[in-house]
Amino acid sequence: MIHQASTTAPVNIATLKYWGKRDPALNLPTNNSISVTLSQDDLRTLTTASCSPDFTQDELWLNGKQEDVSGKRLVACFRELRALRHKMEDSDSSLPKLADQKLKIVSENNFPTAAGLASSAAGFAALIRAVANLYELQETPEQLSIVARQGSGSACRSLYGGYVAWEMGTESDGSDSRAVQIATADHWPEMRAAILVVSADKKDTSSTTGMQVTVHTSPLFKERVTTVVPERFAQMKKSILDRDFPTFAELTMRDSNQFHATCLDSYPPIFYLNDVSRASIRVVEAINKAAGATIAAYTFDAGPNCVIYYEDKNEELVLGALKAILGRVEGWEKHQSVDAKKIDVDE
Ligand code: PMV
Repeated sequence: MIHQASTTAPVNIATLKYWGKRDPALNLPTNNSISVTLSQDDLRTLTTASCSPDFTQDELWLNGKQEDVSGKRLVACFRELRALRHKMEDSDSSLPKLADQKLKIVSENNFPTAAGLASSAAGFAALIRAVANLYELQETPEQLSIVARQGSGSACRSLYGGYVAWEMGTESDGSDSRAVQIATADHWPEMRAAILVVSADKKDTSSTTGMQVTVHTSPLFKERVTTVVPERFAQMKKSILDRDFPTFAELTMRDSNQFHATCLDSYPPIFYLNDVSRASIRVVEAINKAAGATIAAYTFDAGPNCVIYYEDKNEELVLGALKAILGRVEGWEKHQSVDAKKIDVDE
């Protein structure tokens, strides 16, 4: 007999960046971070988890292609989820014995993988949620975020919609390093995100490798985690609760800038931005200058693609300028939670 459960998880884009691990094995971060979860209609992973006494090995299929399941991250997630199910089965002997059966995970992204958008967050969050549903685990999203974090740090934030904080915690076993919701998407329904697909190429330095080079070599990074982020974390949370776009936007842009500055300050340096990324920064600056107010905010993860946050009322102004200067706008006109629009940029 096959047991099966399906679920989806959305992509999140950090506005206060996670960059640096204090414990690489447990994915424990050096600082708190904040992100906005995008609408599930726009960017999400759909995952089905199944288990059966007839399965002979764990399997993972991503967009129709079989993936390796021996990676430490995935092994840790499977181990943690099975341990939670074992606990339930031990306390209730009437439950079917699923924890010892092999798992088959089938995952699909509804956005082009070629778009080069960070998918590991949605991917691991969907996997954790699908297996948790399959096992009928009673854990809260906060407890599941501790498991998701071990798959991919940023995945812990994709267990919630809206505005999410990943609190780094202080425990060495990671038991308090988890995601919490700052506000639901409804709290700030005007928020929008545009994604400028600058390059579909794979990033040249993975986030795991890049983070550790920065942690070990950048003097600016030390300053960032000890003095800048703690203050920024409190300010950004407040700007979200107050729906104060200009403050939220400035903090978001400053944080993206500082994250990329610590990459440049690493030795050897890491470059994620390219000329089109820098041109997009200039366009956002020009938009804000012309508006006489901060109405748009750029942010970049570990790659050249630009995410721009703005409020619905300024959509024509922001997208119009981006389109006129950088390329063509297409598709993804959905209207739910944080609405994402994708813009391909002609290089
Ligand atoms: O979760 P990872 O290992 O893919 O790292 C994500 C790092 C950034 O995207 C650059 C920042 C963040 O907070 O999401």
